[in-house]
Amino acid sequence: MVNICCIGAGYVGGPSSAVIAYQCHDVNVTIVDLNQARIDAWNSDNLPIYEPGLDEVVFARRGKNLFFSTNVDQAIIDADLIFVSVNTPTKKSGMGAGMAADLAYIETATRRIAEVATTSKIVIEKSTVPCRTAQSMRTILEANSSKDIRFDILSNPEFLAEGTAINDLTNPDRVLIGCLQTPEGFAAQQKLVDVYSRWIPKERVITMNLWSSELSKLAANALLAQRISSINALSAICEATGADVDEVAYACGTDSRIGPKFLKASVGFGGSCFQKDILNLVYLSEQFFLPEVAAYWKSVVTMNEYQKMRFTHRIVRTLFNTVTHKRIALLGFAFKKDTGDTRESAAITLSSYLIQERAHVAIYDPKVSAKQIKLDLTEPGVGTNEAEVEKHVEICNSAYEACAGAAALVICTEWDEFKMAQLDYQKIYDSMQKPAFIFDGRLILDAPKLREIGFRVETIGKSA
Ligand code: NAI
Repeated sequence: MVNICCIGAGYVGGPSSAVIAYQCHDVNVTIVDLNQARIDAWNSDNLPIYEPGLDEVVFARRGKNLFFSTNVDQAIIDADLIFVSVNTPTKKSGMGAGMAADLAYIETATRRIAEVATTSKIVIEKSTVPCRTAQSMRTILEANSSKDIRFDILSNPEFLAEGTAINDLTNPDRVLIGCLQTPEGFAAQQKLVDVYSRWIPKERVITMNLWSSELSKLAANALLAQRISSINALSAICEATGADVDEVAYACGTDSRIGPKFLKASVGFGGSCFQKDILNLVYLSEQFFLPEVAAYWKSVVTMNEYQKMRFTHRIVRTLFNTVTHKRIALLGFAFKKDTGDTRESAAITLSSYLIQERAHVAIYDPKVSAKQIKLDLTEPGVGTNEAEVEKHVEICNSAYEACAGAAALVICTEWDEFKMAQLDYQKIYDSMQKPAFIFDGRLILDAPKLREIGFRVETIGKSA
């Protein structure tokens, strides 16, 4: 029986390790975290994260070969393979603040492994880290453990997307495993290949050197975000010229060299990864004295910020240049559909801007709690404080409740339940102030049909 320990029971550690347990019944998987509340939630009927299909996977294996615990030391002692899936947020202060990844959590976890391990381990970087982090981990492990224990380090970055995580983990495009190009490195790599090969076709388990593997994760996220910023930049040109961004994206996407994915214009990308990983790449480029490369990648983030501001300015401009005291219904607060994750969500920027303009913001999201929304809006750096949020924000229990009496409705997240087939837009129109405005920040609505009802519709990438 192989024993796996995963340090970090978050959006990545939880689902990715649960799928290993689900696919390999003879592998014991223990997911550990310092956060007692998070572990309690993983052990309850109400899992700490919303992800389609996750409940089934966890409930099928929990207590059999899948365990959640705060006993980090015991799980390390028992494990043959240890995944490090802790958070690596952008540094908030000190050297590289606002750009470099904060590796403090990685270092703490690595030191813990060195301190408590009594047998040799394969330590696997699952978190997204700057290139050559594995080298620092190795140095820490070797300097803090007894000489008869061996540590092999692998890089196994995670490519799951929130909202489709279980499908991505069950049927991934590829799994990447990087190792030191030594006999011991190859042997460790093979052990992890053996785990994944139980359910993933061999040709999709790609092996390479450690540094390529680490950099590939940053590169993949940078390329994905770059496509979104590219189509968003084009959406501004569409609005100015009368071109339609959906038509332009379709025309470009049918070219097999370009392909159709990630060409959907929107109010801007969010999530915990894209911005953080690009900034990480920017910092790396600067450290290697590559200022042109740094500036190139930085522009992807700059364009994203611009898109969010452009959309909010359009809202204010259209509402006769003032939103003061106007009720604005914000539909969706998660950074994308099918997740409750709000990290870097465009809705945060939008809400904060509208609050500063003294609008009354009525927010509804099917999976984000009122507590989380208020927490996000009062985070340092967001620009709104507790008193302002109390005064200007109302959290609603349905889209209908948010829209009743509103001057405008803004689609921030592309949840299916906001689509035309699922919401009664006639009912919404009847309940709103007139003229009733809709701002579609996700291109999910049928503007001509809404105009027939009587709405004034403004859509990203289309002139009014
Ligand atoms: P998260 O913040 O949801 O989870 C990280 C967990 O690690 C937290 O629960 C925290 O309490 C725990 N932790 C931190 N230090 C610890 C320690 N020393 N011992 C035990 N537990 C500790 O973060 P998330 O979203 O799961 O991301 C983890 C990593 O995976 C990051 O590097 C991220 O960039 C990467 N990633 C995230 C994806 C996503 O969609 N969220 C996708 C692909 C990669």
